[in-house]
Amino acid sequence: MVLVGDNIMDIPVELYQESDRRRNTSNTNHEQYDRDGFFVIKNIIDVSSLTEDVPEYRGMFDYTMGVKKEVDGKDEIATTSSNRHSRRNTPIFARSYLKVKQRIQKEIGKELYNTYWFDRYYFNGSYLTPHVDRPACEISCSIHLGSNLETPWAFGILDGDDKQHELYLNPGDGVVYKGCERIHWRPAFPDAPDESYYHNAFFHYVLQSGLRSHYAYDNGQ
Ligand SMILES: [Fe+2]
Repeated sequence: MVLVGDNIMDIPVELYQESDRRRNTSNTNHEQYDRDGFFVIKNIIDVSSLTEDVPEYRGMFDYTMGVKKEVDGKDEIATTSSNRHSRRNTPIFARSYLKVKQRIQKEIGKELYNTYWFDRYYFNGSYLTPHVDRPACEISCSIHLGSNLETPWAFGILDGDDKQHELYLNPGDGVVYKGCERIHWRPAFPDAPDESYYHNAFFHYVLQSGLRSHYAYDNGQ
């Protein structure tokens, strides 16, 4: 479901300028995607096989090269809450990552290179300030995996006319967006009991024929 929310996010003018500088740097054959910078795919993955216990620990782990290691908590510049559990390249999503890649390639009529995937359990106090992503996130898909929140939590994004949208996704739904071009965010986590969580995955790719193709197989640096 795509809704325009009542709450208008305050976005710094410098961020608008940066987004404008990057406009039309990730062109595809998908008319709506090139105009708005995003589109939603319902049921892009089956989440039933991905169910697991909600972690009690808070931190960030990297599974790249098959070795699990805890890394610095600064998992994303725009994340200002430390109340989260994040994983980079956990094998749990390896198959889904490739399936989603194939689906996006079909939708946008362009071939992609892999960069990385990421998932995060958000807890009370979480939010993401408005931002644009680094080059490895040129073609991104944000997928809602599961939550026990009674109030839905929005994914906010600006379209090509700088109009704000709030997207509310069901588990398994994904929003494909141009991470480097379009300003996106999460508003404050809804008021909820302590045990509340929201689990989300981010699958990132670059266009094979695009300006950011050399970020293929991103090593996280
Ligand atoms: Fe982002």
